[in-house]
Order: sequence, then C-alpha cells, then structure tokens
Amino acid sequence: MSNTQDPFTAPFGTLFGDKMTVAEWKDGTYTYSGGAGPLENFSLHPATHALHYGSTCFEGLKAHRQHDGSLGIFRLDDHVARMIQSISKLRMPPPGAELLRTMIIDAVEANAGFTPDPPGSLYIRPTFIGTLRNIGAAASPSTEGLLYVITSPVGDYFAGGIRPLSIYVETTIPRTTPQFGMIKSGANYAMALGPTLDAKRDHVADQVLFATGGDITETGASNFFLVDHERLITRNLDESFLHGVTRASVLTLAADMGYRVEERSVPVEELKAWAEHGEAFLSGTAAVIAPVGKIMIDGEDIQLGDGRPGENTLKLRQALVDIQLGRTEDVHGWRTPVAG
Ligand code: COI
Repeated sequence: MSNTQDPFTAPFGTLFGDKMTVAEWKDGTYTYSGGAGPLENFSLHPATHALHYGSTCFEGLKAHRQHDGSLGIFRLDDHVARMIQSISKLRMPPPGAELLRTMIIDAVEANAGFTPDPPGSLYIRPTFIGTLRNIGAAASPSTEGLLYVITSPVGDYFAGGIRPLSIYVETTIPRTTPQFGMIKSGANYAMALGPTLDAKRDHVADQVLFATGGDITETGASNFFLVDHERLITRNLDESFLHGVTRASVLTLAADMGYRVEERSVPVEELKAWAEHGEAFLSGTAAVIAPVGKIMIDGEDIQLGDGRPGENTLKLRQALVDIQLGRTEDVHGWRTPVAG
C-alpha cells in the first residue's frame, strides 16, 4: 500500500486514495474525461447551489482485497441504482447507470494500491453536487453539477473494532423528514447530528436508534436488526429511512442460512422484551455488522444477553465478510472483479 498512514489507526474516512474520477453535468449532459485524474481541490463559486440549498448526495460502497489477491467491489450495481435514485429524488436528472459504474470502477482501479488487506477495505465515495451559481434558486433545482468518485482506505468504522455498542433509543426526535429518509444526502446526517451528540454526552451512547413514536427505524448511520437462533427481524422498508444495501444482503444471507426472516414494524416494547433472550446489531457499508450490547431507553439501561457480541450476530457477520472477501461462492452475483 502506498499510503504512509495506517488505516487501522487513522479515524475512518480521513485517508484518501490519490486519484479521483470526475464528470461535469452541464446543458443536460454528463461529460466524463474517461479516466482518473489526481485527487485535487475544486474551485467553487460562493453561490454554489449545493452549499446553500443542499443539492447534494453520495454513496458509500467498498472494494475488498479478495482471498486470492484480486480486488472486488461489493454490490456495485445496487449502489449505482441507489445513487441514481438519490439524484432523481433531489429532482435533478441522474447520469446513466453505465457512466457511474465506469467512474466507480476507474476510481477503484486507479487507487487499488491503497486497498488495505482485510479486515480493511477501500471505501468508495461517489458524490454529486449541484453547482449552479444562484442564491435565489431556493425553490428550483441546480441545472448543473459535478459527479465525482473518491476513495478512502479504511479499517473499522467504530473505534475499538468489533465491540458491543451502547445505543440510545430516541422516541421523540426523528432522524430526518420522512420524504427525505431514503435519499443518501448530507442533510439527513446533519439532522441526526444534534440528537446523536446529545446522546453521546448525556448517555455515553455510541449511536442513536431513531424510533419516532415507538416505531424503530434506523440509527444515524446504519440499519437495525434483532436476531436470535431462529429469527431475524428488521423494520419493513418505506420512504422514511435508508434502504441499506448491507441490510438487503443480511436479509438474503440469513434466509440462505435458514433463519426465519421478518420485515415488519418493530415497536420499542418488543425491543425491550427481546433483550431478555435475543441479540441486536447494526448494519451498514461502514459499520458492516456491529453488535449491540446495551440499549438505553426511557431512563432504563438494558443489557442484551451477557453484553458481549452474540453468537448469531457473529455468524451473520462472518457470512457477510466471507462473501465480500471471495471466501465463499458468489451465488447472488454480488461481487464485481476489478483490476488491481
Ligand atoms: C455507509 O455505511 O456507507 C455510510 O454512509 C455511513 C457513513 C456515515 C460513513
């Protein structure tokens, strides 16, 4: 690896591959130079639409060094589809899937040397920003933009590796507005920030689980699951929260492994009762599968099991990591091989 800093000790997302791909969207057309260039700063006009009116969204996916030494991107097409959906929901015309796909592969191939060995990976961050210069355009979308892909060599998202997380359950403040929930946009993370910082300060929580009105959805940066020896349960999809690609992968793998899979509403009361015998975990590209050891709710601290990562959680995590790293057969067609 040609990076001088260690992705296992540097905070997640603070190291970068030295190449990026960029396409300009103007006059209705996305123009891509057709290859990676150096990672460099943009020069943006102070009136840039994305800076004022939030015309921006992103994706998060990973390339993994495979057990045979090759490089593979996990669920590339699903992330491309979600990015296209995010741009469309921001009411701007998205690029074609093939263009974005090519830009991601080009960026990964150009930065392949930065990929740490497992358990590290090359985190990929496709990003879109609306660049129209117009501070009056509060009620109209940007009509030009930049689409770019950067990469970041990463280790664990949560400092301290695989450890049981403490989760504060927030039943009043929502993570974001329902119509924005499935857009992977910075605005959603900005809205979750206040409650998350408060819960960290007041309850020493790692994450906040948003359960507005007692209806569990997701945490600030990941989806949420209950599991025991027989069942895997998560909230059914609607527009109010992010449709995690890792979430979808976990559901498929669990069904393959013989768990009874339930996608339905999960009331907070059920979570409390579940803690007596079951396990809980978070899922996300960054988080992978992260075990929950404690939930804090209505002034109560409830330990899950013996507070340590549960057997079923670890089994599912292993199954996910094995398929990401090419240790098991890719029966669902989730891996895209790339040069490097
Ligand atoms: C991801 O899991 O890819 C995310 O977008 C989470 C991010 C906050 C690091």
